[in-house]
Amino acid sequence: MDDGHGRVHADSMIDSASHEAPAPPAPWLVRIPEIFEGIAGEVLRRFGAVSHTRLGLDYYLIKTATPEAIQRSEAAKFARWNLPMDHTWPCNPQKMDGFIEKAAQTLLKKFGARNPQGIFIGTLHPTSPDKYYRSLASNLRGRVLQLFPQLGAGAVEEQDATAETLFCLVGKEGLFCGMQSPRACNGLYPGGSKFIDQDSPDTISRAGAKIAEALHYLLLYRPPMPEHSHWIELGACPGGMTSELLSRKQRVTAIDRAPLDKRLDGRPGLRFVLEDVAAFEPKTRTMFDALLCDMNGPPEESIEQVIRLSRFLKKGGLIVFTLKVPRIETVEEPCALFRFITGMAGAAGLKLLAQTHLTYNRHEFTLFFETT
Ligand SMILES: C[S@@+](CC[C@H](N)C(=O)[O-])C[C@H]1O[C@@H](n2cnc3c(N)ncnc32)[C@H](O)[C@@H]1O
Repeated sequence: MDDGHGRVHADSMIDSASHEAPAPPAPWLVRIPEIFEGIAGEVLRRFGAVSHTRLGLDYYLIKTATPEAIQRSEAAKFARWNLPMDHTWPCNPQKMDGFIEKAAQTLLKKFGARNPQGIFIGTLHPTSPDKYYRSLASNLRGRVLQLFPQLGAGAVEEQDATAETLFCLVGKEGLFCGMQSPRACNGLYPGGSKFIDQDSPDTISRAGAKIAEALHYLLLYRPPMPEHSHWIELGACPGGMTSELLSRKQRVTAIDRAPLDKRLDGRPGLRFVLEDVAAFEPKTRTMFDALLCDMNGPPEESIEQVIRLSRFLKKGGLIVFTLKVPRIETVEEPCALFRFITGMAGAAGLKLLAQTHLTYNRHEFTLFFETT
C-alpha cells in the first residue's frame, strides 16, 4: 500500500502480501560507515537491496522491497543513517545554471504541503576540501528557509524525534531528499554525524568525542540528563569521557586501575577510585543516575560488571555501554556477540533502548540501556 507519497509501509506490505501484487522496490538512501565497507554488500543484501549506486563518502542509493529491514533487522546496526527517497535529482550542481533556485523551488512544490517540522541539508562528501561543495548545503538551506518561513525546528536539537523532517543530501552526484522522523533515520543531522572538535588542547582522549556524540544521539530517545546527575564510570582512564561529563555539570564517580590524566585533578564533581572494577563496591545507600562503561577487555566480563553495578542505579537509570568487537569481517560474528550481550543484559532486567555505530566509534558500537 502506498502512503500517498510513493512510499510503501512495511506493515501494510506484510498484511497484504498474500492478496496484492508485490510492492515495487522503494528507493532508499543508506549510510554504511567506511569501516564496514568489507561487509557492505552483505548488509545491503540483508536490507533486500535489488540494486545499489554508491554516492559520496559512504552512502548507498538502493532499491528494496523490504525497507523495514533497514531499521529493524539485525543488520540495521551497520547503517549509521537512512532516508526514504521522495525526491532525487541526479545532476552536476556546479555545472547547472541556477541550481540553488531550481532545487529550492522544487522542494517547496514537492514538500510544502507535507509540513515538515524542519529542513536540514547535509553534504554527501563531508570531508571534501572543494569550496563549492563545502558551502553548497548551507547556501541551499538558506534559500529553502526563505521559502518555508513557518518551520518549528530551526536547530537540529529542536526537532521532535518522532515527527517528520525534510532531510536532504547534496553533492557532485546531485540532490537526494526525503521525509522521515529523526528517530527512524537514526540521527538528528542529515547523514547522522555530529562532528566534534578534537583539536582543542583540553582534549584528553579520543573517547571524549564518543560520549559527546552518544549524548547527542540519545536525544532521539530521551531528554538530556539534568545537571548534577551522578554517573558511575567504569574504565575511565585517561579521562576524555570523564572530562566531557564534568563539563556538562554532571557528577562522576570514575573507576580505573590506571590513574586519570592530571588535568582532571581537583575538577568539581569528580571522585576517582583507583581500583579494579570487579572489586569496587559503592558506599552504602549511593544510588546513581547513570552508568558509563568503556572498559577494554572481553565484553562478556564488562557487561557482567555493568549488570552487577546496575543494582546501584535508580529506576529508569541510563547505561551507556561501549561494545568492543573484534575486527569486523562478517555480519554474523558481531551479530552473535550482540545477541549474547543484549541477552545477558535483558535477563538482568536492562531494557535495550538503542544500539548504534557512532562517528567516533571504531571497532565498537554504543549500546544504550535503561534499568526497569
Ligand atoms: C578504552 S580505555 C577508556 C578510555 C576512557 N573512556 C577515556 O575517556 O579516556 C579502557 C580503560 O578500561 C580500563 N579497564 C579495563 N578493565 C578494567 C578493570 N577490570 N578494572 C578497572 N579498569 C579497567 C583500562 O585500564 C583502560 O584505562
